[in-house]
Amino acid sequence: MKISAVIFDLDGVIVSTDEYHYQAWKQISGQENIYFDRKINERLRGVSRMESLDIILSHSDKAYSESEKQQLALRKNDIYCELLNKLSPNDILPGVINLLISLKARDIKIAIGSSSKNTPFILEQIGLTANFDAIADGNCIKNSKPDPEVFLLAAKMLGVNPQECAVIEDAQAGIDAAKAAEMKAVGIGSAANCLNADMKLQDLTNLDIDQLLEVNEIRS
Ligand code: BG6
Ligand code: MG
Repeated sequence: MKISAVIFDLDGVIVSTDEYHYQAWKQISGQENIYFDRKINERLRGVSRMESLDIILSHSDKAYSESEKQQLALRKNDIYCELLNKLSPNDILPGVINLLISLKARDIKIAIGSSSKNTPFILEQIGLTANFDAIADGNCIKNSKPDPEVFLLAAKMLGVNPQECAVIEDAQAGIDAAKAAEMKAVGIGSAANCLNADMKLQDLTNLDIDQLLEVNEIRS
């Protein structure tokens, strides 16, 4: 089926927030005396805030109550949002703007499909809020990636069939979510190694838009 919509993950695809997530979780884990490193941080890619916290707390012997977990997540988000204040349009990742312009020129619908509850703030900071036809994010879903909910919601908001959508993702959880939604999956950056991605690229600078829109015919 022809691709008529492209759904972008946000963190790691439109803008790189990895370092800010890492710094914020590092502070929290340090305060709690929990071991945390960049390798563990990689596992948080695409995963919701509370599920990220569960991964971090799995390295602790202490049993945290639900309200303690809520407090930790809140503290982490405060630190993270403080860091997000530094974001600007200069932080938009290479190839993103050109791709958005090319898709618009071809009347392809574009959406965000992100697990992040900070999506509206991040898009505002980088000046891209008005560029998307639909925004599905962590504020409107119950189940985060690898569940397909956020991508199915984006397709619904755009008024297109899931099979007409291509998803651009930097996380295995996101590629799995796209495939579960019966969408075409483009893996970039860390997701360029995902076996189940339909296209694999280092970044968006060398994305061939004809290939993207005919992604069925592509061999990676
Ligand atoms: C995803 C990130 O986009 O959003 C994850 O890849 C993060 O690392 C998740 O945990 C939730 O983010 P937020 O902004 O709601 O804490
Ligand atoms: Mg991502």
